[in-house]
Amino acid sequence: MSAFNAVRLTDRVYWVGAIDWAIRDFHGYRTGRGTTYNAFLVLGDRITLIDTVKKPFFGEMMSRISSVVDPSRIDYVVSNHSEMDHSGALPETLAAVRPGKVFASPMGRKALALHFHWDPDTVEVVRSGDILSLGDLDMTFLETRMLHWPDSMVSYIPREKVLFSQDGFGMHLASTERFDDELPLHVLDEEAEKYFANILMPFSPLVTKLMEKLRELDLSIDLLCPDHGPVWRSHVVRILEKWSDWALQKPKPRAVIVYDTMWRSTASLADAICNGLSSKGVSVRVMPLGSTHISDVATGTLDAAALIVGSPTINGQIFPSVAACMTYLGSLKPRNMVGAAFGSYGWSGEAVGRLEELLGGLGIPLAAEGLNINYVPDDGALQRATDMGAAIGDRIVGMCSGSE
Ligand code: FEO
Repeated sequence: MSAFNAVRLTDRVYWVGAIDWAIRDFHGYRTGRGTTYNAFLVLGDRITLIDTVKKPFFGEMMSRISSVVDPSRIDYVVSNHSEMDHSGALPETLAAVRPGKVFASPMGRKALALHFHWDPDTVEVVRSGDILSLGDLDMTFLETRMLHWPDSMVSYIPREKVLFSQDGFGMHLASTERFDDELPLHVLDEEAEKYFANILMPFSPLVTKLMEKLRELDLSIDLLCPDHGPVWRSHVVRILEKWSDWALQKPKPRAVIVYDTMWRSTASLADAICNGLSSKGVSVRVMPLGSTHISDVATGTLDAAALIVGSPTINGQIFPSVAACMTYLGSLKPRNMVGAAFGSYGWSGEAVGRLEELLGGLGIPLAAEGLNINYVPDDGALQRATDMGAAIGDRIVGMCSGSE
């Protein structure tokens, strides 16, 4: 008897992935609700496995496959994405199953060979528009380069109206429920947005092109099956629309204040700036890095109109947690926002100027002069911070009303 069971998605398609309840750090991304590594079994005349799982979960995947068919009956394996949360178990899978063929995109074949030091001929290439016959079912492919790896592609079965979208439209969420409508919608929204912000944000222009391509192809999609999180069944259109919207990074009247503090001087400036912004009707997310993960800061920037960064100067440098956050945000390229810097210092005050340079490097124009306060802010300094928030608030209201 199998220890793990597959989940039937359609008469011909089963989920045979794995649930990672424990993971909280996905190379820097705080996965507070765990994740799943989704693999799918297609019961065509030629039985096909789509993607595998992270290496330690090989046994779980095989157990789920065994609950449906003898794994040795698998004819084909399709690798939509070579990142090791989906390909890590591939070598063991091939050894156990000995499929007739393995398919990947051209870049996927190259990436898999470089990961596992295979002869590239281990993998057969499929390209956008190719049709793979599974006997009574056809599978087609669309390469989605740099979404989010060069090898990424999606696979589609027209007869079943199922799109296997690899990381696309996914989220990190461990659950026994496999369908979107079995889970609270606000949790799906939260995790899908976080996933987009932390994985896809730097590729937003390409996402916009992909969404245009999908509209042009006019695929009929009953099930949208990503490689992480639940399968979309009831909210397919909604998640497609959300991706289109997120990719535009259109600012809303929101600001992110991110900072760290040593003796609460920088913290009290953050609170005063927040008051100034709030007085203009701007929604503010205050994110102290002592208790906020940088992946949540990234999510906050997705639709914010301002990024306001605070740091004490410590021995001539930006406080390390703030510097790390700026490096992380630099890799994600938040757009369509203004910025400002603030902080406290003792005997030298380099941090604010350096933060302004970093904001400039991100292409974020400054909306206010940096606020750099010696030691502890007095009432006058706090008023300056409030005024700074109010001035940025006016700018945000103008940006979001389209008057600038
Ligand atoms: Fe889920 Fe890009 O791997």
